[in-house]
Amino acid sequence: MALPSLWRRAALIAAAAASASALLPAASASAVVHGRAVPAERYPWLGAVGSPFFFVRPAGQFCGAALTAPDKMLTAAHCVSAVRGLPGVLKVTFGRSDLRDKGGETVDVKSVWVDPRYHETKFKTEDVEHHDLAVLTLKRGVNRPTVATGRPGDAREGEVVGWGTTSETDWFNTRLHAATVPLRGDAACAAAYGASYDASDMLCAGSPKADTCQFDSGGPLLVNGRIVALTSWAYGCARPGYPGVYARV
Ligand code: ARG
Repeated sequence: MALPSLWRRAALIAAAAASASALLPAASASAVVHGRAVPAERYPWLGAVGSPFFFVRPAGQFCGAALTAPDKMLTAAHCVSAVRGLPGVLKVTFGRSDLRDKGGETVDVKSVWVDPRYHETKFKTEDVEHHDLAVLTLKRGVNRPTVATGRPGDAREGEVVGWGTTSETDWFNTRLHAATVPLRGDAACAAAYGASYDASDMLCAGSPKADTCQFDSGGPLLVNGRIVALTSWAYGCARPGYPGVYARV
């Protein structure tokens, strides 16, 4: 059942956060940890994925997504796989710098495609997301610029953006933030996560100075204005020795 799964997911996230914050000192960094507030107008193709059933967050937001065609959005499989059979519970909201605002544009979702290779394993307490890619088809095309996908090449850094939490102990951020994150190379994540990190479909980025965090998932890692990967998983947020892991597109 999809709705119970959504609840279960919310409860799991909350429980994981509570236990992590009880056991560990707060990560020093800040939606992105150590990000800066940015206006949603700068990312007109960026959507907040939410559901009215997830009422613990304004707009029911729990993930990010990017418009790659007038009616197609790229997001993380782990964000939507539980409701793939119930696309009607999902909504995407564009153009809202703060989720508590009323403005922007909200669109219903017609269908959800999840990469057939998507599956989860475990690293300590965290879910490891493999082939963490999904495509949302919107009920109508929107009149907004799309964003291109690309490859990181030999870039040394990228930009992440999202409405997520600003540290492991922050549950209430609703502001859109962006941060510049270092592209760390596969060796850094292989050292941190061993066989849980699969360089063929994952990308390693971030540091204690800048990282993504909960509710940023599905949002973009941009290099030269193109999406090269999506926020996927990590051990905590901005913890020393544990970079963020992104799903290659
Ligand atoms: N799984 C998280 C989400 O659903 C994203 C975690 C990213 N964590 C990180 N430290 N980079 O929003």
